[in-house]
Amino acid sequence: MKIPLLFFSLISCIACLSQQLIVSPYIQPGNAPTLNREEKVIIWQTDSIPASFIVEYGSSRLYNKSALAKATPLYLGTSQTILYRAILPDLSFNEEYQYRVTINGKPVAEASFATRSTKPSSRFVVFGDCGIGTAVEARIAYQAYIQKPQFVLITGDNVYSRGRVSEYLKNYFPYFNGTGSSPQTGAPLMRSVPFYLAVGNHDVGAADLATYPDGLAFFYYFDLPRNAPAFKRIVTAKGRPAQLDSFKKVAEDRYPNMANYSFDHGNVHIVCIDSNPYVHPFENDFLTWLENDLKNSKAKWKIVAFHHPGFNSSKVHYDNQWMRVLSPVFERSGVDLVLNGHVHNYQRSYPLKFLPKLTNAGNPLIDSTGRVDGKFILDKNFDGKRKTRPDGVVYIVTGAGGAGLYDTAFSNKPRLWAHEPEANWVPFTVKLISDVYSYSLIETSRAQFTFQQFDVEGKLLDQIRIKK
Ligand SMILES: [Fe+2]
Repeated sequence: MKIPLLFFSLISCIACLSQQLIVSPYIQPGNAPTLNREEKVIIWQTDSIPASFIVEYGSSRLYNKSALAKATPLYLGTSQTILYRAILPDLSFNEEYQYRVTINGKPVAEASFATRSTKPSSRFVVFGDCGIGTAVEARIAYQAYIQKPQFVLITGDNVYSRGRVSEYLKNYFPYFNGTGSSPQTGAPLMRSVPFYLAVGNHDVGAADLATYPDGLAFFYYFDLPRNAPAFKRIVTAKGRPAQLDSFKKVAEDRYPNMANYSFDHGNVHIVCIDSNPYVHPFENDFLTWLENDLKNSKAKWKIVAFHHPGFNSSKVHYDNQWMRVLSPVFERSGVDLVLNGHVHNYQRSYPLKFLPKLTNAGNPLIDSTGRVDGKFILDKNFDGKRKTRPDGVVYIVTGAGGAGLYDTAFSNKPRLWAHEPEANWVPFTVKLISDVYSYSLIETSRAQFTFQQFDVEGKLLDQIRIKK
């Protein structure tokens, strides 16, 4: 991968306009799911006064194109801010672009990014449960940065504790979109590396805008593909009519359509699904889309990401198993790997197949606690080293990205991982590391998929290779 050129000069106070840049410009993937069309969206936020910003951009420092920024008032309950977004359409693939945000011809921010690759490879970093505003988050951000990923994938619970604008300003952007890079402060990742995200429970923890006027910020701050049907049961924004009106004006079609989506990068196809308890993952429209999306993808490697893990051997959140019902769809659609968060540790399963117990109507049965019983088939021959052709889907929990670790005594102690009964749990977990914070790095090539888990010092904790 070509390293995004990180020259960035930021003038946070645009003195002549008495305007403060409260979130520096960063890039987002935009509504470009397939490798037929590429775009990026530049987003930033100022304190109060709408201004005519222009984004100038181009390859080879030519800055020969420009895009007008759209300004949307974002009222936070106590103060007015302005959120800006500029769409850079029709970009070339496999290209490095420079961009600068200007006002009255003066640059206020400048950075670069690489567009998506169409080559048969990829390299990206994955972690979850991260935006909590601690020293660990800074280390995760720094590690992600020095791995030089083409993109970052977050498995949900992006920011704590309720997904509010005020929390992103305090617990998120300073770490992932700061100016300097160090293990103590984080890194300027977001201005050059697109973040894809799944929706976690904490991301939608402030849907009542009457109580939290700055809630549901996921739909403000991100700009992701909108190519999947939203579930019928979605997070419901509540509040006074004027608040709902204002929310919808800022969120536009991103609410609720950004909660489920898929995208391609290089030779991977990734589907992100909202797994919150308010959804029912077995909705017909969604299921049809999911299976078609996965089966129609020509990508060599297929990944599904969502927040709540179906297969988890921790004590914490053990009952949150409802996403197990999609396992047969993943198996018959050629999914290689499933990535989850929610449980704040690292877990890797054997390649497995799971057949859920059915109701009389023939649907998978989710009991009132969230449990799903069924039949497990484990591929214990696969070791990811010499035996690299799995028979089943590998399930990963990568939720050790910042929030307090769960079940820290469980690390490498399989006798502590057992649950009952056998219809609900069998020893499907190969590796469980819960006493250190960690993140994942995935690299794909034509014939090989490499998954690695690192701690926040960069020490390798676990590794598998998949070949096909
Ligand atoms: Fe969670």
